[in-house]
Amino acid sequence: MDRRRPLFADIVATRIGRRQAVAGIGLGAAAAALSGVLGVPLAARSAVAAGGPSTLTFTEAARVIGVGLQVAPGYRAEVLIRWGDPVAADAPGFDAHALTAAGQARQFGYNNDFIAFMPLPRRSKNAGHGLLCVNNEYTSAQLMWPGIPDHKTTGNMTREQIAVAMQANGHSVVEIRRRGDRWEVVAGSPHARRITATTPIAVSGPAAGHRRLRTAADPTGRAVLGTFANCAGGKTPWGTVLICEENFQFHFAGDLEKSGQAAHHKRYGVAEINREPWHKYDDRFDVAKAPNEPNRFGWIVEFDPYDAQSMPVKRTALGRFKHEGAATWIDLDGRVVIYSGDDEAFQCIYRFVTAGRYDPGDEAANRDLLDDGTLSVARFGDDGTMRWLPLVFGPPHLTPDNGFGSQADVLIEARRAAELVGATPMDRPEDIEVNPANGRVYVMLTKGKDRTEAAVDAANPRGPNPFGHVLELLPPGADGSRDHGAESYRWEVFLKAGDPAVAGSGAAYHPALSARGWLATPDNCAFDPKGRLWIATDQGRDQLKNGIPDGLYGCDVDGEGRALTRFFFGCPRGAELCGPEFTPDGRTLFVAVQHPGEEEGSTFDAPSTRWPDFDSATPPRPAVVAITKTDGGPIGE
Ligand code: FEO
Ligand code: CA
Ligand code: CA
Ligand code: CA
Repeated sequence: MDRRRPLFADIVATRIGRRQAVAGIGLGAAAAALSGVLGVPLAARSAVAAGGPSTLTFTEAARVIGVGLQVAPGYRAEVLIRWGDPVAADAPGFDAHALTAAGQARQFGYNNDFIAFMPLPRRSKNAGHGLLCVNNEYTSAQLMWPGIPDHKTTGNMTREQIAVAMQANGHSVVEIRRRGDRWEVVAGSPHARRITATTPIAVSGPAAGHRRLRTAADPTGRAVLGTFANCAGGKTPWGTVLICEENFQFHFAGDLEKSGQAAHHKRYGVAEINREPWHKYDDRFDVAKAPNEPNRFGWIVEFDPYDAQSMPVKRTALGRFKHEGAATWIDLDGRVVIYSGDDEAFQCIYRFVTAGRYDPGDEAANRDLLDDGTLSVARFGDDGTMRWLPLVFGPPHLTPDNGFGSQADVLIEARRAAELVGATPMDRPEDIEVNPANGRVYVMLTKGKDRTEAAVDAANPRGPNPFGHVLELLPPGADGSRDHGAESYRWEVFLKAGDPAVAGSGAAYHPALSARGWLATPDNCAFDPKGRLWIATDQGRDQLKNGIPDGLYGCDVDGEGRALTRFFFGCPRGAELCGPEFTPDGRTLFVAVQHPGEEEGSTFDAPSTRWPDFDSATPPRPAVVAITKTDGGPIGE
């Protein structure tokens, strides 16, 4: 079968009638999509900077690569908490020249990513007081200490530096409160806590206790030390937070052959020499000495932020891969559905459906809902349909003949299982969110640089794909009553990123896009309470090449403004944008500015920006920013 066609254009051609009826997209967009390039002149595009058909009426922010933040006029963007700021009541103050592991264990972690705003009291809709729960994904050693030129030379890190890095990973919880029109961290909160690479964490679900999870230090296979590489995440209806383990492989190294499971570890990117040299001072990160330790990472971790003493739990039923995030939804029958992407080129999109039903009146019944259910993986058809293929131990593929002895093996090797059942390899699945306003599912596919033209398919329609795209998944049913437990969905390409003014980019958006509105490499996303999609970008080393900072773009998903992305917020140079998280009233937007100043030649001594302190003795610091409208109104209008 020729998998190069049909492309996006053909899909639009066959389905444009339905889309016009459903969402009112204009014929202009259809024609533009058919040509693959919008070709709207820049002058015409600038003329709609006030919003055009979009319900998002803010004036777009300036969009330049600079040392500070950029936000739409009429909005305030204020730093709420930075790397090294106190979390625990007894935390020391930040001193960039005297980092200690003991101090970092009680201070805000590095490289903030996912943000959950959890209202106080629990499960209220309070928009002015809550817990800010933040993932800390990794460390940028070259910006934390002098004498480390770049990420390739982290092998020279000292024992103490690695000990600090372990405490800078994980998760940070602080209590925050709105006073007047500003947010503040509540000092000395009983809820404040750090979860780090050494925090005791339980393991539950089908793979708990399995021999491949047992180590010399933990013969039970049920008690792991720590979580790290925590990228995006999710929130459950019962008030817990899901934190995802993504690029855990960077922390393991050693002689793979001696691990006895070299092919398995390689499939997850574990290599003999790796980016974070934790194995130098801790044997559990040396795969020759602790061959099962990598199997204890790559999971989704659930914890209760309202109980600072609660032990986090790795929920193995949700499978082991490089979890970008965990988007939660209650299905029509009360079962809980979680969508999660595996962020690596040619990896897949997964769905977990609980066996039990969510009971809003029975906290105890919900506590272990995530231990029992069905994990599936997505296969996209070129005809605009898709199927969820169950990853359940048994014939025809997930059998002892193929090396699977139980459901635990299927979960530990979810990637191999997904390939065997025929899942579709995607262009790096990043964040996924369900739109609370209509129940449709949106998937950020950040890029597919290595996808060849011969390997494109309808759901990954460009090869190579340096700018990424966004898919919209449509469970059966009408908006508001869609069945997220169904075996088959339909799907659409929502937008194709890149600059549509560049011939041959293949970019596709609403035709009224302004010159500032195009984006590259979608990563995190969020919906505001009105169901509008906000897309955060992570261009990595392509920031200078593309000539734009990373930042946040808002757009409608319905009506006349569908897929008309508009630039709202820009990061300092070198940073990517993570988070985004709205308060329940939509009047505050929290964003996480990750790795400011992380670019070629930028170091502790000579960083390319010193945001947010702009102090000559202080390096840049990843930080969470609270964005509010100066008139107090909803974000975006
Ligand atoms: Fe940690 Fe997929 O970004
Ligand atoms: Ca991400
Ligand atoms: Ca998100
Ligand atoms: Ca990222």
